[in-house]
Amino acid sequence: MSPTDQHDAADVATDDTAPLPEHTVIGVDIGGTGIKAAPVDLSTGTLLRERIRELTPHPATPDAVADVVAGIVSRIGGSGPLGVTLPAVVQHGIARTAANIDAGWIDLDADALLSRVTGRSVGVVNDADAAGVAEMRFGAGRDQRGVTVMITLGTGIGSALFVDGVLVPNTEFGHLHLHGGDAEDYAAELVREREDLSWKAWAHRIEKYVHLLEALLSPDLIIVGGGVSKKSDKFLPHIECRTPIVPAAMHNDAGIVGAALFAPAN
Ligand code: BGC
Repeated sequence: MSPTDQHDAADVATDDTAPLPEHTVIGVDIGGTGIKAAPVDLSTGTLLRERIRELTPHPATPDAVADVVAGIVSRIGGSGPLGVTLPAVVQHGIARTAANIDAGWIDLDADALLSRVTGRSVGVVNDADAAGVAEMRFGAGRDQRGVTVMITLGTGIGSALFVDGVLVPNTEFGHLHLHGGDAEDYAAELVREREDLSWKAWAHRIEKYVHLLEALLSPDLIIVGGGVSKKSDKFLPHIECRTPIVPAAMHNDAGIVGAALFAPAN
C-alpha cells in the first residue's frame, strides 16, 4: 500500500524451501502501488514464506491486476483458498468504488473474477479493513475494547473502525473532507513523498486529520499502519492529540495476514 514498501521486505524467518501444505491459505494485498502475497498461518498471524511483491499494473484494470495475482499465486503454489484485499469499498465480494485503481472495478464481482483466474475460492475485502482485523487479532489492537480506528497511510488513506473489536466495514475515512479536499490528498504517505515534506510537516498534516477523527468518533485508540508505520518514530512523536496513537505492530504485513483471515473456509 505504501509507495515506499518495496524496502520493507518481510522480516520474519521463513523456510521457503519447505513444501507448502496443500490447503494453506494465501493472503494477497492489492494496493495502489504494489501487489503483495504470502501463505499465512492463521493461528499465529505470521507469514509462512517471505512475501512476493510485484508492482500494481497501470492502468490497474481488473484483467491486468487479476493476471498479476494469478501469476503470484501460482508461484506460491498449493491449492488453498485466497483472501484478497482491494483499495475499494467491497460489499459481499463486489467492488463499489475505485479511488486508486481503475474505474473498471466499480460494481465488478471481484470474488468471481479472481476465482476464475486463479481456480481457487476467493474472499475479497477492503485493504484497510483487512489490515485492521489483523492488527486487532494479532497486533496493536489485541484485546482492545471501545472504539478503535486504524488508519493506513500509503498511496491513499485507508480506515478501519472497530467497536469492541467488531469491524464496521468500508468506513472510507480517507475521503473525509480536510484542507479543501479529500484527506488522503493532503496527508497520505504518497503526498509526503510527492511534495517532499519533512517528517514534521507531514506529521502536522496527520495531526489535523487525527483531530478530525477525534471530533467525529472520540476513539479510545488510533492505530497507524501502512508501510511507513515502520518509521513511526520519525512522525508519531510530532503528533499531539488526546487519543493514544500507536504504530501498527505488523506494519505492512497486516494487509496480507488480514486478507488471509477473509479467505473462505474450504
Ligand atoms: C480507498 C480505500 C482504501 C484506501 C487505502 C482509498 O483511496 O478509497 O478503499 O482503503 O485508499 O488504500
